[in-house]
Amino acid sequence: MPEPTPPSSTARLRLSIVLPTYNERGNIEPLLAQLLPLQQHVDLEILVVDDDSADGTAELVRRLAHDEPAIRLIRRVGRAGLASAIKEGLLDASGDVALVMDSDGQHEPGAVLRALQALQQGDLDLVIGSRFHPEAEIHGLSGRRETGSTWANAAARRSLPRSFGHLSDYMSGFFALRLEAALPLIRAVDVNGFKFLYELLAVSRGRLRAADIPLSFQPRSYGASKLDLAVFWDFLISILHSLSLRLLPRRAISFGLVGASGVLVQLAMTQLLLGLTGRPLAGNQELALVGALTAASSNYLINNALTFRFARLRGLALLQGLLKFLLVSSLPLAANVGVAQVLVRLSYADSLSAQLAGILVVFVWNYAASSRFVWNTP
Ligand code: GDD
Ligand code: MN
Repeated sequence: MPEPTPPSSTARLRLSIVLPTYNERGNIEPLLAQLLPLQQHVDLEILVVDDDSADGTAELVRRLAHDEPAIRLIRRVGRAGLASAIKEGLLDASGDVALVMDSDGQHEPGAVLRALQALQQGDLDLVIGSRFHPEAEIHGLSGRRETGSTWANAAARRSLPRSFGHLSDYMSGFFALRLEAALPLIRAVDVNGFKFLYELLAVSRGRLRAADIPLSFQPRSYGASKLDLAVFWDFLISILHSLSLRLLPRRAISFGLVGASGVLVQLAMTQLLLGLTGRPLAGNQELALVGALTAASSNYLINNALTFRFARLRGLALLQGLLKFLLVSSLPLAANVGVAQVLVRLSYADSLSAQLAGILVVFVWNYAASSRFVWNTP
């Protein structure tokens, strides 16, 4: 006799929970223990995406998965970052609905069922657990982080489609989505840094039906946050990238910002030297040279740490890279003046636009040549 199949109205929801981990050995086991009882309500699959943590997180999860078929470990070698881990987990998920949350105890497991309810009752594609919802509580953010996040959130709101204006937390690490609706978008998400959700909203161009629910954000149980300056920088670049209608390449934006910081360094250094030596700038070639070299070296180091950190140079290669960078950026020093002068002489341009054209040429050259020759990227 064929097995009776349950009528579809009572068919249980298939839920995939994605848990990104990086050094969460102390946190993951209690979290899994709190999530597994959800099997009373849904068909559950838990995907732990670990970036080869050094503290034995993956080994621990493998042991737990051995005795609990609902748990799956995805272990990646070479740390590719939070957004990339989330993308990988979501692409591998087999449920109807997927839910992403932090693995460090900052997101309450109790919010999972609330998110599912909101998703189903509101007939939505995406439900975000928000730290900034009027009914949310924040116990786990320092005053500084909270201010920073509030600011970042306001910038995010402005750079995203208007139809997401009602949402309150664009960087949350807690969200549930209907996979059928979201999969094509997930594929397209760019995975630099932390902000998976922001990117998902950006690539959806307003087409996701989204709402948020309040979260009670807890202090981290064990270990430390992995959000660092590079993550913050990356977010800044994302905002500018969205504002440029995603036309300017992300890396070029970063390179441009670093270049702008170099201008400030050069001005400051020249001022300092003028003060120290007490000599006038006019005719003082060495002084101008030291200012320019300091700025170029500072640009190089910052680009190495942020713009090209995926191809970061260290040790001897760092020194060789500096020499190449100085060479690359000294070539257009002459050309810059040249381009401007030629344009003015042919009266194609007044001197301001000539200078801007000069800056553009230098920028494109520096960016292209140092990508290629200093950091060996196309
Ligand atoms: N696989 C993987 N790889 N997981 C990572 C990585 C990584 O490189 N970096 C962080 N994670 C995991 C952590 O193990 C944790 O489970 C979760 O991602 C969040 O990381 P935290 O380091 O705890 O972030 P946070 O608490 O400072 O940041 C919070 O706010 C951000 C927005 O301001 C989190 O809620 C983030 O999800 C959120 O984007
Ligand atoms: Mn955290």
